Parts: sequence; structure tokens; C-alpha cells
Amino acid sequence: MKGIVLAAGSGTRLYPSTIAITKQLLPVYDKPMVYYPISVLMLAGIRDILIISTPCDINNFKKLLGDGSQFGVKFTYKIQNSPDGIAQALIIGEDFIKNEPCALILGDNIFYGPGFTGALKDATKNAKKGYATIFAHQVKTPERFGIVEFDKKNNIKKITEKPVRPKTNYAVTGLYFYDKNASKYAKTLKPSKRGELEITDLNNIYLNKGILKAEILGRGFTWLDTGLPKALLDAGEYIRTIEENQGIKIACLEEIALRMGFMEKTELIKILKKYPDNDYYNYAKETVKNYQ
Ligand code: DAU
Repeated sequence: MKGIVLAAGSGTRLYPSTIAITKQLLPVYDKPMVYYPISVLMLAGIRDILIISTPCDINNFKKLLGDGSQFGVKFTYKIQNSPDGIAQALIIGEDFIKNEPCALILGDNIFYGPGFTGALKDATKNAKKGYATIFAHQVKTPERFGIVEFDKKNNIKKITEKPVRPKTNYAVTGLYFYDKNASKYAKTLKPSKRGELEITDLNNIYLNKGILKAEILGRGFTWLDTGLPKALLDAGEYIRTIEENQGIKIACLEEIALRMGFMEKTELIKILKKYPDNDYYNYAKETVKNYQ
């Protein structure tokens, strides 16, 4: 199973903060934003991960993440020259995907909640069996998202990108699991009115073939958007609140590498020695040291 993090885009809604650095490298409280989507792929058991970013930003991602060996994963890097649509990630990543099932996640999406690891496992199993999975979550402003409609049996009826008069409040979040044919289908897409290869159009191909599943992330679940200054600040506050109340960290990649069995405790202890004593690394060092 392959994984792709799409971390390109122009981030103009956060200008001037994102003139010199891409949004996905900005901090969400105590770690860079891109750690959160990477943690989702790792929790799905995915160790072969492609990071796609802009020509200007790709070297900063390499500097931050390296080859992935410190987390027990392998990172590959590719460029998206201009933001021509989310579905383009599956074309850029065609040689990387190599006709295997894959998961695609947007570099600015934060997921947190009970039952998520189980949902990821199901989506992985289904991708291997030839199904795609989208994850839907209720939102207050459905006109800003891809919106999914269900029939009485909870089967997906329709997905519409940014509907003017949304029929439901269920947004399609920025996490998608596909079978081995995602690149092949993405190559058949035509640019939409806004000039993008729409991920909603790709999902509708799977829907029309009868091989699209939807996982509903319920009320107790959190899916955070980080696209506007206030949303970015709110996301940081949310992460801080949970982490301080529970004494755990969300998206500590070293901890996940250990718990997923990607890394040995002794290897991680050695690697973590290189890093300064601060809130993030003290947590990682302690957690690894005390792991049984
Ligand atoms: O966030 C979920 C929504 O993401 C879905 O509900 C929509 O169906 C889907 O189309 C998408 O909505 P937007 O089109 O409004 O997403 P936006 O343009 O804000 O891009 C989302 C992230 O993906 C953002 O961090 C930039 C990055 N991106 C986007 C495009 C179009 C790229 O890296 N490359 C791109 O070509």
C-alpha cells in the first residue's frame, strides 16, 4: 500500500504568512502541520510515502523529513508545478504508485478521534479488494466542500463539489483510499470550470462503477481545516488543549513509529539523542524510554 501527501497549493488565504514558506510547514502548536497527515498514513500501516510540493518548497520538506528512516518509513519527493487540482497528485505519483492501492491525504488536514485507526484499517483492506473509500464529516459551511448525499440505506447517492444549495452537511474530507487503478482513472479527467482536475470527479468515477464506500466520521470526531488565519490558530489551540489535558501528543511521529512496530526502541533512543530537550522531544524521549 502506497501513501501520498499533497502539500502544494498557493496558500494565498494565509498571505503574508505563506509568501516565504508553504502553509504545510507552518506549526500547528508544537509541530509542523505536515506531521498530522503523515501520522494518519503511518497509522494506516503505510510506510512508502510520496510527498508532493511546489518547486520552491520541496527542499524544505526534504530538510524536515529526510529519507524517513528516522521514523521507519521511506519518503519520496515529487513536484507539482502549479495547483492544477488534487487529482493531479495521482498522475504525478503514477510511477511511485506502480499499480498498487494507495491512500491520498491533503497536507493541511488534521484528523483526531476515537475509532479512527480501525476505520483506516478497513479502508486499507477495501482498497486491496478493489474499493475506494472517502471519509465524510458534518460541517457548518457545506458550500465550501465536496458534499456527499446518501440514500435511505446509507449508500452514497451523489457527490457534488461546492454545491450552491447543499443537500446535506456531510463534507468529503481530504483523505481518500483507492484501489490500484487510481492513476489510470485520474488520467481520464478533464479540468473543471475552475481549471482543476477535481478529486470529486475521480470519486464519482468510483461511485459510478459501484466501488466507492463512505466512512462517516461521527460527532465525537474532529476534522480540522487550517486554511484561514483563525482556523489555523483554532487548530493549534485544540491540539494544545488535548495534549495538555491528557498528557499525550497527537501526531508524534516517533511514538507512532514505535507503536506501529516500524522502529525498534533502541534505534529510536539513539536517534532522539541528537535532538534538543524541548516539549516535543522530551515527550518523544520519555515515551520511547518507557515503552514496554
Ligand atoms: O478539504 C477537503 C476539500 O478539499 C474537499 O471537500 C473538496 O471536495 C476538495 O475539492 C478540496 O477542496 P478545495 O478544492 O477547496 O481545496 P483547496 O483548493 O483548498 O486545496 C486543499 C489543499 O490541497 C490545500 O492545502 C492546497 C492543496 N492543493 C490543492 C490543489 C488544488 C495542492 O497541493 N495542489 C492542488 O493542485
